[in-house]
Amino acid sequence: MYRFKLFILSFFTGCWLNAQNVVWLDELDLSVSTQGHGTPGINTSVAGKPLTIAGEVFKRGFGTHAESSLLIKLDGKASKFTAFVGLDDEVKGQNPAVEFEIYGDNRKLWSSGIMKLGDKAKPLSVPLKGMKQLELLVTDGGNGPYYDHANWVNARFETDGAMTLKTFNPISSEEYILTPKSPAIPRINSAAVFGVRPGSPFLFRIPATGEKPMKFVVKGLPNGLRLDSKTGVITGKLDKKGIYEVELIAENTKGKISKKFKINCGEKIALTPTMGWNSWNCFGLEVSADKVKRAADALIKSGLADHGWSYINIDDSWQYNRDFKDQAKMRDGKGFIIPNEKFPDIKSLADYVHDNGLKIGIYSSPGPWTCGGSLGSFGYEKQDAESFAKWGIDYLKYDWCSYGGVLEGLPENDPFKVPSLAFQGGGDPEKGVKPFKLMGSLLRHQPRDIVYNLCQYGMGDVWRWGDNVDAQSWRTTNDITDTWASVKSIALAQDKAAPFAKPGNWNDPDMLVVGEVGWGNPHKSRLKPDEQYLHISLWSIFSAPLLIGCDLEKLDDFTLNLLTNDEVIAVNQDALGKQGVCLQTVDELKIYVKALEDGSKAVAFANFGREKVNMSYNDFSKLGIAGKQTIRDLWRQKDITKLNTTNESLPLDIPAHGVAYYKFNGIK
Ligand code: GLA
Repeated sequence: MYRFKLFILSFFTGCWLNAQNVVWLDELDLSVSTQGHGTPGINTSVAGKPLTIAGEVFKRGFGTHAESSLLIKLDGKASKFTAFVGLDDEVKGQNPAVEFEIYGDNRKLWSSGIMKLGDKAKPLSVPLKGMKQLELLVTDGGNGPYYDHANWVNARFETDGAMTLKTFNPISSEEYILTPKSPAIPRINSAAVFGVRPGSPFLFRIPATGEKPMKFVVKGLPNGLRLDSKTGVITGKLDKKGIYEVELIAENTKGKISKKFKINCGEKIALTPTMGWNSWNCFGLEVSADKVKRAADALIKSGLADHGWSYINIDDSWQYNRDFKDQAKMRDGKGFIIPNEKFPDIKSLADYVHDNGLKIGIYSSPGPWTCGGSLGSFGYEKQDAESFAKWGIDYLKYDWCSYGGVLEGLPENDPFKVPSLAFQGGGDPEKGVKPFKLMGSLLRHQPRDIVYNLCQYGMGDVWRWGDNVDAQSWRTTNDITDTWASVKSIALAQDKAAPFAKPGNWNDPDMLVVGEVGWGNPHKSRLKPDEQYLHISLWSIFSAPLLIGCDLEKLDDFTLNLLTNDEVIAVNQDALGKQGVCLQTVDELKIYVKALEDGSKAVAFANFGREKVNMSYNDFSKLGIAGKQTIRDLWRQKDITKLNTTNESLPLDIPAHGVAYYKFNGIK
């Protein structure tokens, strides 16, 4: 009897336990989630600290960073999800905002509304009966993803007995190489045009692939310029304005090739978008002259320079940092800046870069401090512009940073007290423009061409006035990170600035986040391979400055394949200088079109959705394309079909977060 009772009891408790099993969110595989920054915190915040919301500490949960998405397979096994959500106290002093959202089978089930720092943890309870799939999302709350450390705490599922649930990421991780290897016969990969001002030092390295050694000849080279026939580097100076049409010739034992090339000597420079490398995303504040030198060597050795990559740009931290405190060592008696110990001789570094036929860039701020807290140009703009020219600098990135503090009035007139980042005021049509105009006109008066890049994250519609302050390019958006959320939101924000792009004026959506990035925490780009193809294709069709942000000494084959596709680069460098825009949206497929100088069109079918796109496309009139066309796959460098776009359709098969990048060439 006793045994029977025990059986009954255990039968019922067993069933009850089975039916009511609890699975904690923190027990699932969170590594597949995508998030705007850092790695998922299991029972910690994204910064690895105890989960804390409005003073309350929680033992269990998932600490993430907006924009964040975690997908969970439920397959009808869960009946309820309960949790508390909120921003982590660790970002005190900042102004984050987020919205937590829950989607079940692609339907919105719950949303927290906008949450701010200090808001008490918000409870939630969502019934899940019968549901197949759940998504836990954290959006940026409408003010960008800065400092959005978001926590799902005490988060648990009630299941029908299932002991765990599967998380997943629908985007493929498979790396595949599309760019064909360059042939042994010579190919000249330069843009068709190059701009220089009269009287400025001329430096141009003919980018050519093919078996080395190679011999270069330039037919019709104007007086004042000379060619090194072994390296293909053209130097010298042109005194007179004019368009000089020359022919570049490259020859090796396998063959010979020639290409028409226009040297446009006039007021405009950067007639095609800048292509090169920038130190920030891989070296951050740890950049040094040695690392920059090695990056220049790697640009040549990897072959990237043979595809047109030519600028080596030093970002923040060649100057003394404000932690250093000894102001007397930061500038000399006449106010000329003294670089820090990591950069003992910038002039000889620039000479080294130039001797390789490459160009060198530098970085400063109109404020007293850069974003990283290094000495800015405020009050010493003239001396800095002169130093840059004297050292042989070819490019300046000028970053707003602490200038917001200047507008607010320097605290006790002491620049050391200005907060290092203050975005305020940059949109003001006078105050926001003034410091950029000042540096622009100073650079214009130097005896060399210095490409001028404004970095103020798009405030005050910079694309409308950037040209007036003598800038050649300007950042349109906030800092990029190697996450899908970042690339997607930046890509989708470019169209409004597109009409302002033209030869000599480029919208800059920020650097390329491919290869090994992340200083202090070097890692492969967290973008999936298809996302990287989409990223490079869009930056190509946007006519964006192309600045590689990874460690050039650690290039893998996949990354090299992304950066050495001459047909993808040629669209970016097209001499017409138009920026491609989205002309049609079909669900989450966006179709970007860019008109090219030869009358053809580049078309990027960019799939921003999580499902693959499989369709027969025939809406060509929306893209401004008509009649018979040859369609070329730019990544594969292959004609794929001939089509009468008036009555035939094009099959599209595009992976989730991937792209098909084509060129449409009219057949006469
Ligand atoms: C800002 C810029 C970045 C980089 C850093 C350096 O955030 O947008 O590209 O230059 O400053 O501190």
